[in-house]
Amino acid sequence: MSYYYNLKIQFNESALEDQIMTYCLLFNASGFSEDIMETNASHRLMNVYFESEPDKELIQKLKDLNLTFDLEKSENKDWTESWKQGIEPFQLVESASSDFKNIWVVPSWCETPEKAQTIITMDPGMAFGTGTHETTQLVAEALGSVEVKGKTVLDVGTGTGLLAIVASFMGAEKIAVTDNDVSTHHVAKENFVNNSVENVEFKNADLSLIDNQYDIVVANIIDGVLIDLQDELVSKTKNEGFLILSGICKERDPVFSEAFDFSKFNILSIHKKSEWLCYVCQKILD
Ligand SMILES: C[S@@+](CC[C@H](N)C(=O)[O-])C[C@H]1O[C@@H](n2cnc3c(N)ncnc32)[C@H](O)[C@@H]1O
Repeated sequence: MSYYYNLKIQFNESALEDQIMTYCLLFNASGFSEDIMETNASHRLMNVYFESEPDKELIQKLKDLNLTFDLEKSENKDWTESWKQGIEPFQLVESASSDFKNIWVVPSWCETPEKAQTIITMDPGMAFGTGTHETTQLVAEALGSVEVKGKTVLDVGTGTGLLAIVASFMGAEKIAVTDNDVSTHHVAKENFVNNSVENVEFKNADLSLIDNQYDIVVANIIDGVLIDLQDELVSKTKNEGFLILSGICKERDPVFSEAFDFSKFNILSIHKKSEWLCYVCQKILD
């Protein structure tokens, strides 16, 4: 008989979420059920699934972070179903105006809800980029607030490619994507094919090697990395173009807004969802 292992991790600080996911992926996590994470400002629960017993080093790392967690071992026959349970089609943006509010993300095993008009097929096999995370939804919402039709877009840290697909559905002329984690590339490429998105080009993973400038640059990456990449992000944005930055944790915003040089931009709006912020800026000069 074979088994799967479910690590149920509780944490209070949203900033820990990326760190937990990164550790678990390093130690061969097979899936995360973000959708059944109980989320409020002070308490979170993340289910992480493993096909073999989680490595002792991972357990020690979680202990070092002072996390509370339980490990459940179950018969393997339940594994796929248990992971899929609770993962349902969802509307990517709840409050936008225009056609955009009708974009839904529908896992391949689910029926398409009648009210879903535009459908992105995306299987939540990866930790990030299936649209269930607030930071992704904020960028999707922000894209709804600028003119995307006929524009060129650069998606930095594309992950599963979801935001590039959204931009394409919104009428972008061409989209360039990049991600420094090469293991994401085949997932994104598969998602582009599955959603019949043909106007996307994979760029070299190193942002500094991209020569072009774009009408819209989006980057949903944790705030510290946005700060590190700021010169590149700024230089890749055309004059009067838009820079959309997400992944900024509210409690770290004072540090972020101080460290990121917005002197070449007007900040048009800051979108908020639970503990996350997304900046929409327009470049005024180069
Ligand atoms: C938070 S995920 C966002 C995924 C997807 N864009 C979304 O919004 O759902 C961040 C992504 O940025 C990538 N990343 C991190 N640092 C990067 C860098 N310096 N250059 C390019 N991509 C990076 C990660 O590999 C990951 O896929």
